[in-house]
Amino acid sequence: MSGEFYSGKQVAGFVTFLVLGTVLGLGAYQAGGRLAGTGGGAEVSAAAAPSTPNGQALYAGNCAGCHGAKAEGGLGPGLVHTAAWASAEFAHAVLDGQSPQGRELGTVMPRFRQTGLDGAPATDAQIAAIQAYVQTLK
Ligand code: HEC
Repeated sequence: MSGEFYSGKQVAGFVTFLVLGTVLGLGAYQAGGRLAGTGGGAEVSAAAAPSTPNGQALYAGNCAGCHGAKAEGGLGPGLVHTAAWASAEFAHAVLDGQSPQGRELGTVMPRFRQTGLDGAPATDAQIAAIQAYVQTLK
């Protein structure tokens, strides 16, 4: 009985554990900082989505593949004329596939009410942001 509660080996082991944990933790912290600073664009814009949807990014990610980068048309029709539609008409077409004339759009055009624009249900603000972006493409 020497009064020692921990042997030298135990103390050394504990100190090693502490140092390793600190190094690993710092590394993870720095890696996280780098990701947030540069790579995490999707996360950042998703986090900002509720207040300020980015119409250009939403259009590029969801519409440009079929309607063209400048809404000039492609697989789908050009959309420049839809910039003049009432916002409710535009939303009805994008969300439900119904044209202002009451025509059911072909099924190639997604029903974004179901699919959403960024993994979450589409919001009015997102649709409005997309139409506002299309209005810049005249
Ligand atoms: C997979 C291809 C595809 C994608 C993606 C797509 N569309 Fe379409 N879209 C179409 C096709 C094809 C039509 C024509 C359907 C028809 O006339 O029956 C169409 C029609 C439309 C119309 C009606 C145009 C008119 O004059 O009647 C609007 C508005 C529209 N799309 C907006 C959008 C928006 C906004 C997005 C992105 C959020 C989008 N589309 C994504 C293929 C697509």
